[in-house]
Amino acid sequence: MGRAIAEDLETYFVCRHAASSAPASGESYLAVDLTEKGSVNDLVKRCRPDVILHLAALADVDACEADPTRAYRLNVDATRNLVSAAGDAKIIYVSSDHVYDGAGANREADVRPTNVYALTKLWGEDIALSANAAALRLNFFCLGTEKKEGFAGWLTRSFRSKQPLRLFGDVFFNPIYAGFLPGILARVVERWQRGTFNVGYHGPGVSKAEFAMRLAARLGLSTETCVVASVGDAQLKTYRPRGMAMNVEFFEHAFGMRLPTLDRCLDSFCDDWRAWNDSDLLRLSDDPR
Ligand SMILES: NC(=O)c1ccc[n+]([C@@H]2O[C@H](COP(=O)([O-])OP(=O)(O)OC[C@H]3O[C@@H](n4cnc5c(N)ncnc54)[C@H](OP(=O)(O)O)[C@@H]3O)[C@@H](O)[C@H]2O)c1
Repeated sequence: MGRAIAEDLETYFVCRHAASSAPASGESYLAVDLTEKGSVNDLVKRCRPDVILHLAALADVDACEADPTRAYRLNVDATRNLVSAAGDAKIIYVSSDHVYDGAGANREADVRPTNVYALTKLWGEDIALSANAAALRLNFFCLGTEKKEGFAGWLTRSFRSKQPLRLFGDVFFNPIYAGFLPGILARVVERWQRGTFNVGYHGPGVSKAEFAMRLAARLGLSTETCVVASVGDAQLKTYRPRGMAMNVEFFEHAFGMRLPTLDRCLDSFCDDWRAWNDSDLLRLSDDPR
């Protein structure tokens, strides 16, 4: 998420970006290991930020389940280190819709952590909220970056190459297009409020299968190689919640902004996708338009 929105964040903020790994060419990231208190203190002293956007996590659900100690270090201890170094800075802690597993649109009080990832993200929230923090429970979709493909990037690439896909018809969510996040984050800072808020597209959740079909239809891509399946039949290593859709009214009311609908998110993604495919960098052999 950080790499996907870094450039657009500059429209609203003067940014210093930090990451644990060496930057790719053209990137100017500050090195930090958030699990090391000294490293975090040095970073904060050096940047003296007004706002800290805390995105770092062990976000791989299976990796969290396989190694809960590592998940705890990254999702909980690292947040504690940041909180203790932050001073007066506002902290935006990015949490996840994975903390839910209920029917319909979950409200902020409806948490139901069902795996180590969800549990450690909730713990991280609690620690962040002991400081001057807003915890945003979100899900987003994007094309992704060179380093990591996003959900929508994976879908469009698979549709185009006619790869067989199993799409879950019983996992519900309401992800927002990452392109909207910088503007949303600017509004959060402008109308600052501490607390926990759901952030997704405005409207009822859809299944992952329906999301994929709607995306393909908008781009005129074939879904002939897709089958709709149940997550229960997928024999995944770790339990995945089915009901992650979120009610976003609390956020909208608190920050005085209407979040975009799914249609608007898909339209915006499709515009960016077409522009991206037109770029010299990633010219593709067949033109889907
Ligand atoms: N992906 C989703 O669909 C999704 C949905 C809801 C919420 N979220 C939340 O959104 C946030 C971003 O997720 P993501 O998908 O972008 O995750 P990601 O691709 O795995 O990125 C996590 C980032 O954390 C950094 N990091 C890991 N260990 C670190 C350490 N010890 N010190 C400093 N940085 C460290 C990594 O830096 P390097 O690049 O240097 O390794 C990486 O940039 C997470 O908090 C996640 O829980 C994600």
